[in-house]
Amino acid sequence: HSVALVGAPLSRGQRLAGLRRCQVYDFGDLNFTQVPNDELYNNLILYPRTVGLASQVLADAVSRALAAGHSCVTIGGDHSLALGSVSGHARQCPHLGVVWVDAHADINTPLTTQSGNLHGQPLSFLLRELQDKVPQLPGFSWLKPCLSASDIVYIGLRDVDPAEYYILKNYDIQYFSMRDIDRLGIQKVMERTFEQLMGRRQRPIHLSFDIDAFDPSLAPATGTPVLGGLTYREGMYITEEIHNTGMLSAVDMVEVNPLLGASQEEVNATASLAIDVIATCFGQTREGAHTAFDELP
Ligand code: ARG
Ligand code: MN
Ligand code: MN
Ligand code: MN
Repeated sequence: HSVALVGAPLSRGQRLAGLRRCQVYDFGDLNFTQVPNDELYNNLILYPRTVGLASQVLADAVSRALAAGHSCVTIGGDHSLALGSVSGHARQCPHLGVVWVDAHADINTPLTTQSGNLHGQPLSFLLRELQDKVPQLPGFSWLKPCLSASDIVYIGLRDVDPAEYYILKNYDIQYFSMRDIDRLGIQKVMERTFEQLMGRRQRPIHLSFDIDAFDPSLAPATGTPVLGGLTYREGMYITEEIHNTGMLSAVDMVEVNPLLGASQEEVNATASLAIDVIATCFGQTREGAHTAFDELP
């Protein structure tokens, strides 16, 4: 089993400087270029051509890594890069299911966004059911919707815009908000997540993990923190269970922003949390390694 890391230093899906990758090897960092004269779309949406082109480059890289037989970890960068990682994954695995761990739903359309930031919109471009509601943005002509509403499960929501809430309800998208986690407990939430995605048949999983799903006390170095997030234990349980399915094929780790920590400690805490998430996805456990000894010496 092997894991390809792709560094995706895309920061134009949101307005703050500084989103960069953590440590990356193997596939290296992609070279994203800022498209010159990338004017606002509709007087509101920032950097459509830059985000569109970077996502296209990322989709090719993720698709190539998977075709070579690796699992693929994309280290962002902001959450708009899921446009590319999910598209590239779907090219190789058309029947993938997505677990979207986030404080936010990131499913605004270009016509409902209030911030103009594309990191709040990637799922609207990816969802088949929404295509008559999503105008074509400059730089996005390569993108084909590859997900259905029943292919997505959200975990950790607690800051959902009105239009997003309408979409979740109207298209019957499965989500577990922080309130649902309080009610059900994280174990039931994971059971129901896999029932939704794999109840009928096994399928490859795309985990799109926004670090702001965690409580800001654990992950302060991020652009849109929201109180009342996941505990460390809930986060580790989510990724342990995803590892245990044996079906994880791609991971995004996004919205870790070293420029936004109030101190070096805050930046380090956020980064090492992100590393624990990724390591747990690929088998790090809280129970130690069982394979080190066959018998006691
Ligand atoms: N809902 C807000 C927006 O559309 C916030 C999105 C935050 N997204 C994120 N990936 N951190 O702008
Ligand atoms: Mn978020
Ligand atoms: Mn997000
Ligand atoms: Mn294992």
